[in-house]
Amino acid sequence: MKRTFGILIAVALTAGIFANKAQAQTVIPEDVKALLQKNICLACHNPDTRLVGPPYKEVAKKKYTDAQIVELIYEPKPEHWPGYPPMAALKNVPKDEALKIAAWINSLDGGAKKAPAKKAAGKKTT
Ligand code: HEC
Repeated sequence: MKRTFGILIAVALTAGIFANKAQAQTVIPEDVKALLQKNICLACHNPDTRLVGPPYKEVAKKKYTDAQIVELIYEPKPEHWPGYPPMAALKNVPKDEALKIAAWINSLDGGAKKAPAKKAAGKKTT
């Protein structure tokens, strides 16, 4: 009995891990991907994980407007990201392309809404 229960839990946990993994992989729309590649953003950024720069999902959590993100591409503020090297100012990214990228970054905020609420309400910090 106990053993069966343990196996069930193990299966459930494994399934959970795989489900999470599948969710964590952001699929970049082809048009946005083309812009990110052309402007070499992907050399330093991944939507989900830290590379040289922060994951775009983390950037989305900062709740910038699209226009603010465009400005930060032209004039990065490394003080926003302690522990990261400063990003080079990328002033030659065309504005319409930067805006499209910015709107996409902000669209990644989907799963993040719960996080601040949990933090504020949570008493357990461990
Ligand atoms: C050479 C590496 C590199 C490249 C190329 C690069 N970034 Fe970054 N980016 C960083 C680093 C490092 C940070 C964090 C430090 C900082 O903001 O200066 C960052 C931060 C950011 C932020 C957060 C700004 C803030 O203040 O919160 C945005 C948005 C961003 N990058 C977008 C882009 C976009 C869009 C491109 C392509 C046009 C790009 N990055 C290309 C390294 C890079």
